[in-house]
Amino acid sequence: MKITVLDKVDSTNNYIKAFLHEEELFTVIALEQTQGRGRLGRSFISAKNGLYMSVLIKPQKDKILEITPMAAVAVAETVEHFTKKQAQIKWVNDVYLDGKKVCGILCEAVGDTVILGIGVNVQKPENDFDESIRHVAGYLFENDEGIFEDFYKYLLERIAFYRQNDFFDGYLSRSFLIGEDVTYIRDGVTLTARVKGIDRSYSLIVEDSEGEKRLFSGEVNTVRKL
Ligand code: BTN
Repeated sequence: MKITVLDKVDSTNNYIKAFLHEEELFTVIALEQTQGRGRLGRSFISAKNGLYMSVLIKPQKDKILEITPMAAVAVAETVEHFTKKQAQIKWVNDVYLDGKKVCGILCEAVGDTVILGIGVNVQKPENDFDESIRHVAGYLFENDEGIFEDFYKYLLERIAFYRQNDFFDGYLSRSFLIGEDVTYIRDGVTLTARVKGIDRSYSLIVEDSEGEKRLFSGEVNTVRKL
């Protein structure tokens, strides 16, 4: 595996675009990003002491939508290995620890290649997160545990493993939403439903007064527990 580690970059997802010709699992890692990007055009806070990583994936066309859940399982296992605590996955792409988001995943397709971007709040930011997000944003460790390199190597191994092996059970067993009442936004409208499960194509199965529905990650935003 080829891994490039940078002190600081605008966004590893941008930087890696110059290397699309490289093989699957070519990786760029940064210790800090100045313009970290999140889903839905949001920015992703990328202070020092986090792990910001982009990995090239060369998927079969019909497997593209599986990359995000695959990465979530790989991150959750890595978090559990290092913290010895149970991580959870919030459909479809956030990893939680102790009820707070500790990782976000942003996949971007460029031609036949998918850039898998993963941001993990490994260590508490120098001045903590802004007070306005402290109730939702978490980190793995209060202090420097000296595990940064071991952490990203372990994570890359899990990604390599799950590129070849099924991860559905690992996804399901860590689900944060199954059995919960949620609100979600579809076509600009906020709706309420109970989450019944997740199917094999990683759609969320919900039930409301009209019956059972399937929510696809591309069309539904901002799923929140009630
Ligand atoms: C989200 O939670 O909305 C997704 C956040 C994804 C952040 C990662 S950090 C590495 C890569 N580079 C970026 O600019 N974004 C992704």
